[in-house]
Amino acid sequence: MKKSLVIAIDGPSSSGKGTLAKKIARHFDLPYLNTGALYRLVAFRALEQKIDTNSFESKISDLVKNITEADLEPDELFSEKVGAVASVIAKNPKLRAALFDFQKDFVALGKKEKGGAVLDGRDTTTVICPDADFKFYVTADVEIRAQRRFNQLQTSYDEILAQLKKRDENDLNRSDAPLKIAADAHVIDNGNLSIEEGFQKILQIVKS
Ligand code: C5P
Repeated sequence: MKKSLVIAIDGPSSSGKGTLAKKIARHFDLPYLNTGALYRLVAFRALEQKIDTNSFESKISDLVKNITEADLEPDELFSEKVGAVASVIAKNPKLRAALFDFQKDFVALGKKEKGGAVLDGRDTTTVICPDADFKFYVTADVEIRAQRRFNQLQTSYDEILAQLKKRDENDLNRSDAPLKIAADAHVIDNGNLSIEEGFQKILQIVKS
């Protein structure tokens, strides 16, 4: 039987993990899932429906209904505002449980139809795919991440830095599925690497 290839990549906001994950997926012709987009979609829907934090939990089953891969694409999901709300609601264990099957199903289908999958997020190496063939933790100093984000957005560097620190704090300190380095993950410090250098580092490990 042909062996499948599942690659899970976690790391903090704006570490470049998504760019690397996409490039790796393209290289191996594997389906790619940005799991952060799931939390962003729910945050976007909650904002659109003006759901406040008090009633959020009772609305989770509606908010996660009928999610398709195409729903995870729109640019409007990737604003700072939606990201900030996503990192707050992502602390909710009921929401995490409600999004679990979508992610597991994505991997199962990818293995069946395309021989594997690539995922990135905060808990793909620890909770979603603890048995991934390769696990990576892509990180960079928060100031470098803020500078990269600033170069893209050209808004206030100080605001971006403060937002990133807040999101790191939310992701690292929550009780359910916090961002952490899996014991068997390869750590890639992406702070001083170009996209190509980061990609080659991952590729070398996967190919070796
Ligand atoms: O990766 P991205 O920054 O787009 O994710 C948005 C938010 O979703 C993160 O700040 C994080 O709180 C949450 N998230 C998560 N678990 C994942 C992926 C993202 O909690 N696997």
